Amino acid sequence: MPDTPNPPIYVTDALIAEDIDAYLAGHEKKSLLRFITCGSVDDGKSTLIGRLLYDSKMIFEDQLAALEADSKRVGTQGQEIDFALLVDGLAAEREQGITIDVAYRFFTTEKRKFIVADTPGHEQYTRNMVTGASTADLAVILIDARKGVLTQTRRHSFLAHLLGIRHIVLAVNKMDLVGYDKAVFDRITLAYRAFANEIGITSFTAIPISGFKGDNITALSENTPWFKGPTLVEHLEVVEIGSAVDEAKPFRMPVQWVNRPNLDFRGFSGQLAGGRIKPGDPVRVLPSGKTTTVSRIVTLDGDLDEAVAGQSVTLTFADEVDCSRGDVIAAAEAPPEVADQFEATLVWMADDAMIPGRAYWLKLATQSVSATVQAPKYEINVNTLDHLAAKTLDLNGIGVVALSTDKPIVFEPYIDNRTLGGFIMIDKLTNATVAAGMLHFSLRRAQNVHWQATDIDRDMRANLKNQRPALLWFTGLSGSGKSTIANLVEKKLHRMNRHSFLLDGDNVRHGLNRDLGFTEADRIENIRRVGEVAKLMTDAGLIIITAFISPFRVEREMVRGMLPEGEFLEIFIDTPLAEAEKRDVKGLYKKARAGQLKNFTGIDSPYEAPESPEIRIDTTAMTPDAAANLIIDRLLG
Ligand code: ADX
Repeated sequence: MPDTPNPPIYVTDALIAEDIDAYLAGHEKKSLLRFITCGSVDDGKSTLIGRLLYDSKMIFEDQLAALEADSKRVGTQGQEIDFALLVDGLAAEREQGITIDVAYRFFTTEKRKFIVADTPGHEQYTRNMVTGASTADLAVILIDARKGVLTQTRRHSFLAHLLGIRHIVLAVNKMDLVGYDKAVFDRITLAYRAFANEIGITSFTAIPISGFKGDNITALSENTPWFKGPTLVEHLEVVEIGSAVDEAKPFRMPVQWVNRPNLDFRGFSGQLAGGRIKPGDPVRVLPSGKTTTVSRIVTLDGDLDEAVAGQSVTLTFADEVDCSRGDVIAAAEAPPEVADQFEATLVWMADDAMIPGRAYWLKLATQSVSATVQAPKYEINVNTLDHLAAKTLDLNGIGVVALSTDKPIVFEPYIDNRTLGGFIMIDKLTNATVAAGMLHFSLRRAQNVHWQATDIDRDMRANLKNQRPALLWFTGLSGSGKSTIANLVEKKLHRMNRHSFLLDGDNVRHGLNRDLGFTEADRIENIRRVGEVAKLMTDAGLIIITAFISPFRVEREMVRGMLPEGEFLEIFIDTPLAEAEKRDVKGLYKKARAGQLKNFTGIDSPYEAPESPEIRIDTTAMTPDAAANLIIDRLLG
C-alpha cells in the first residue's frame, strides 16, 4: 500500500535559509503521526486539509504544481499562497478522477510531522478508505454541524474501528454556519457517543471547528468561549502514536530476507513489528520453534545496543539456527501462534465477487501462502451494521469468514498486532489484490487435529505393487473424449498388471459429490474433493486416472501442488467446441443452446485450457487407441 508523500521542494521556514542542517535535524527528531480524514467534500474535508497545510505553512510539490498552473494568482515562492486557492486546488484534484485513490499529504508543526491520508468518502470507495486506514493511528471523522451524524459517519467510524485505529476525533465542522451554538455541538456529540458505544469505540475527542474560518484548528477560537480545547492541531500533536504502543509489546520481527554476503556473516533483515531487542536476548524462530540468542544488531550506520518497533535492522544469531524469508523471529518466552485455519474479517476489493473454495495467494507480513475462504458466516451491512446471510462477498463487501492456508503461518490477532494480523489476498491468475483482511483467531479444530504418522508409508505400498504411483489428470470440454480415452488407458494398464483406479466425473457426481451442481463454487469443490481422493489413492500406491472437465486452471494447479513433483500429469483432451458440440453424445449441448441447461461449459460457463499440459491430445488428428498408447508410453517410458 503506497504511503510515501512527495518530497518537499521548498518550505517557507526562515531556518532553512540560515541553517539547513539544523532545520533538517529538527525535523528528523520529530515523531510522525499518520492519520486519515473521513467525510465527503460536502462536509468540508478539502477545506480542513487545506487549512492544516496552510496553517503549517508547508506546501508540497503536487499542490504547488496546481497553483503554478494559475500563475496570475500565485504570490512569490508561495509565501502568500491564497487559502481559497489552495482549497480549490485540493477539491479540484479530488473531483478529477484522482478521487478514487488515496491522496497522501504531508505537513509539519514544531512538535510533530504528519501524513494525512485523504480518502474518498463514498461507499463505492470503501476499499480506498481501507487502504488509507490500515496504517493510520488516528481518524478525523468530519461532521457537518448542520447535518449531524449521518449514515456515512457511521460507516467511516465502523471501518476506522475495524482497522484498529486507536484514536477518533469527531470534528464538528462548519460551526460558523450554526452560529457557534454550543447546543448543536453537544447534541451531535451525544448522538455520536451513543453510536460509538454500540460498535465498541470507547473514547473519542470531539472538537467544534470551522475549517473555512480556522476556528479551533491551531488556536482556540473566541467564537466558542464555551470550548476549552484542545484545538485540532494541539490534539494531533500530543496523541499517542502507534509505534510507542507497539514498543511495549513482545518482540517480533518478520524476516524480509537473509543477508549472507560471505561465509562468515549470516544476518536476518526485517522491520520490528513489535517490542524491542538487545544483543543477548533469547529469541525463538517460528514456525520451527528453534531457539537461540541475538548476537548483533547490524545497521548501515553501525551496530546498535537496542532496536525498537518500527526500526529496520539485521540480526545475527549465536547459533546456526535455520531461518529464512517469511519466518518470524520472536521473544523466546512470548512467541506468537502458528496455525492454518482462522476466523477473519474480509473486505472484498475486487470487481469480481469472492469465490468460496478458490485458492488465492495470502500475504501476511513477509509470509506468502495459498489460502481458501469458505462462504461467509455473515456479511456486515456497513451502514446499519446488521449481519446478513451471504454466499459470497461483492466489491466493497465486508464479511466474517473462515479461511485455511496450505501451510501454517505465524500470526497474531489483528487487534494485538496489525503487522502479524493484517493480510491481503491476491488472485493467482491476474495478480490483482482482491481483498484485505484481519485475523481474529485460529480455529480450535486446527489446533487439535494433528497429522498422525503411520509406519507403512506410500513408497512401501507402491513397492508392493511394483509400480510408481501417478495421477493422470484428464481435462477438456464435455464430450471431448476424456472418459473414452481414460477408459482405454485403464484397460491397457490392467493388461500390463498395473494397479489403477479411474475416477470419472459423471460417476463421482452420483455418490461422493452428489450434493454439487455446476456453479463455479460447486465445480471448485468438486475438483478439490476429487483431488484429495486421488491423492489418498496415490498414497495407496495406485495409478489414478481422473476424467473431469475441471475447467479452471487454478484448481488444476492446486491438485498438482498436492502431489510430489512429477506425479501429476495433466492431459489436455483438446477437442474444439464445435467438434464436441457436433458429436453431442449426451444431447447436452443441444439442451444448453436451447437454454434448458444453465452454466454449461463452453456455452455460458468458461473453460480455461491448460497452458503447458504434460500431454496434449488432438482428438481430431488421432484415434482414441493411439491417444491411449501415447499416454501410456509417456507414463511408463
Ligand atoms: S466439472 O466442471 O465439475 O469438472 P464434471 O466433469 O464433474 O464437471 O462433470 C461434467 C459432466 O456433467 C459432463 O460431462 C456432463 O455430462 C454433465 N453436466 C451436466 N450439466 C453440466 C453443465 N452445466 N456443464 C458441464 N457439464 C454438465
